Amino acid sequence: RTRALCFRRYGSYSPCAGVDAPDLRAYFTTPIFYVNAAPHIGHLYSALLADALCRHRRLRVPGSASTRFSTGTDEHGLKIQQAAASAGLAPIELCDQVSAQFQQLFREAGISSTDFIRTTEARHRLAVQHFWGVLEARGLLYKGLYEGWYCASDECFLPEGKVVWQLGPTGDSCPVSLESGHPVSWTKEENYIFRLSQFQEPLQRWLRNHPQAITPEPFRQAVLQWLEEELPDLSVSRRSSHLHWGIPVPGDDSQTIYVWLDALVNYLTIIGYPDAEFKSWWPSTSHIIGKDILKFHAIYWPALLLGAGLRPPHRIYVHSHWTVSGQKMSKSLGNVVDPRTCLDRYTVDGFRYFLLRQGVPNWDCDYYDEKVVKLLDSELADALGGLLNRCTASRINPSGIYPTFCTACFPSEPGITRPSTRAQAEDYALVSAVATLPKQVEDYYDNFQIYKALEAVSICVRQTNGFVQRHAPWKLNWESPADAPWLGTVLHVALECLRVFGTLLQPVTPSLADKLLSRLGVSATERSLGELYFLPRFYGHPSPFEGRKLGPETGLLFPRLDQSRAWLVKAHRT
Ligand code: ME8
Ligand code: MG
Repeated sequence: RTRALCFRRYGSYSPCAGVDAPDLRAYFTTPIFYVNAAPHIGHLYSALLADALCRHRRLRVPGSASTRFSTGTDEHGLKIQQAAASAGLAPIELCDQVSAQFQQLFREAGISSTDFIRTTEARHRLAVQHFWGVLEARGLLYKGLYEGWYCASDECFLPEGKVVWQLGPTGDSCPVSLESGHPVSWTKEENYIFRLSQFQEPLQRWLRNHPQAITPEPFRQAVLQWLEEELPDLSVSRRSSHLHWGIPVPGDDSQTIYVWLDALVNYLTIIGYPDAEFKSWWPSTSHIIGKDILKFHAIYWPALLLGAGLRPPHRIYVHSHWTVSGQKMSKSLGNVVDPRTCLDRYTVDGFRYFLLRQGVPNWDCDYYDEKVVKLLDSELADALGGLLNRCTASRINPSGIYPTFCTACFPSEPGITRPSTRAQAEDYALVSAVATLPKQVEDYYDNFQIYKALEAVSICVRQTNGFVQRHAPWKLNWESPADAPWLGTVLHVALECLRVFGTLLQPVTPSLADKLLSRLGVSATERSLGELYFLPRFYGHPSPFEGRKLGPETGLLFPRLDQSRAWLVKAHRT
C-alpha cells in the first residue's frame, strides 16, 4: 500500500521501474593501481571515465544509496617487492607513500569514489583467503610443477611464443615480453594451479549470451578470439621464499597467493565479501579498465568467479592508452605526464574536460599541451563561456531576470506564419536538437562514448551561438513594444539551452557546471536528469524559471588559457 502511494506521488516512475531489479543498484570500479611509481594521466583517465559514468548515473537515478564507486591501490607482488628493494624501503613504506599520492590526486581531481581499497588491509586478506578456500573446496586447485616465463613488470606468465630475445643495455641478449617489452625470467617451481582450462566453454557461452558484457565491441571480439585458442591452467601461487610480499596460501605458509588473484578479489572485498551483504551489489557491476589488463578481467576473473559459484560482472568497459608525442608513456623514457601539473595549469574542470572529450576508448590518443589549450579555449572559454556572457551581461539583460518566452513570436508549429512570428526554420532545428540532446547523451554514456556525448553538447553550443548571432539581441530594444517580446524570447531560449548544457556537463565538469547553473538561478534540486524539462513554454507548460532572478555575476565561466598561461610561451621559445 505504501509502495503504491509512493509510486503515485512520484509519478515520474516508468511502469517497469519496480521490476527492473538489476538496475536498482550500480557498482562502478576502476582498476586498483600498482604502487611502484607515482600516478600519471593514464591512471587519472581511468578514474575519470568511471567518475563520469557514476555521476551521470546519480543524476539519472537520484539517491546515493543506489550507487557505489570504488578505486584503490594494488600493493602486493614481485613488482612491488622489487621496487621497494631498489628504493631501499620496506615494502609497506613504499605502499604507504604511493597509495597516499593516488588518494590525494583523486581527491584533487574530484573523483567521487565512495570506497578506496588497499590490498594490504586486513579485510582484504580475509576476503582473498576465503575466496581461495571456496575454490579449493570446489576442487578447482591442485598442486603441480609449473614451468615457464614470468614477467615481473606485468605480473604474468607468458607462453614461449610471446617471448622474444632483445639486445639489453650491456650488449647481452635478454628475453623480453613481445607485447610489453618488459624483461622476463624462467621460472620452474611447485605451485597451486587453477583449473582454468575447464572454463573455456562457459566463458564463450557467457560472452555470446551477453553481447554487452564487454564494450567497445572490438574488445569483446578480441576476447572471443583468445578463447578460440588453447586455455591452459593457471598458476595461482608462488614460493614464499621467492615472493614473500603477499597473502599466504591458507594452510600452506610456503606459498604466497598470485598477485592477480589477490588483486581481482578487491572488487568483492569492497562490497563486504564474504558477508552476504555483498550480494546486493554483485553482479550489478561495471569494471572500467585499460586494454592492457583485458585478459585478466575478461578471462581469469570471470572464470574465477564462475569457479567460486558467482556470476561474471555485468559490464566491462575497456579503454585504450594515452601516448605522449606518439610514444608510449614510461618511466624509463622519462616522458610521463604528471597529472597534478596538468590540473594546476588547466584547472580541474578544464583537464577533466580535455581528457574525457579527447579520449576515445577504441584507440590510443596522443597527448600534447598545445592540444589542451586549443580545445579548452575554443569550447569552454569562447563557445560556452561566451554564450553565457552574451545572454546574461547587464548590457543585454539589465533587469537580471530570466526573461519571458513569447508564444506568438515562437509558435510551437513551425508552419504557421503570423505577423508576430519571428522564429525561423533554423530556430526550430535548434530547439529540436537541444530537446533530444539529453537522450542522445544518455545513449552515449550507455555505450561508453563519453567523448561523443561531449561532442554532441559542443555542437549544440555552437548551434545556440549561431541562434544568438542570427537574431543579434544587442540590436533589439527593451523599450520598443515591437522588439521587447522577441528580445525576451531569444534570451529565454538561449538560457534554456544553457540550462540543458550545464545539467549535462555536471558529470564531466562539476564545478564549471555548478557555476553556470548557479548563474542561471537553477537551484540544487533542479539539476537532475529526471527534472530536465527543456523549454516547457514552447510545449505549452508553465516555466518555473520565467521571471526568476538570475544568480549573481561571478566572472568569466572559463578564462582563456593562451593569454593567462605564460609558461606555454616559454615552452615555445625553448
Ligand atoms: O595493471 N593510458 O595496475 P597499473 C591510459 N594493478 N590508461 C592507462 C595508461 C595509459 N597510458 N597506463 C595505465 C595494474 N593506465 C593492476 C590492476 S586491477 C584488479 C589490477 C590505466 O598500475 C589503465 O586503466 O599498471 C590500466 O589498465 C591501468 O592504469 C593499469 O594500472
Ligand atoms: Mg601496468
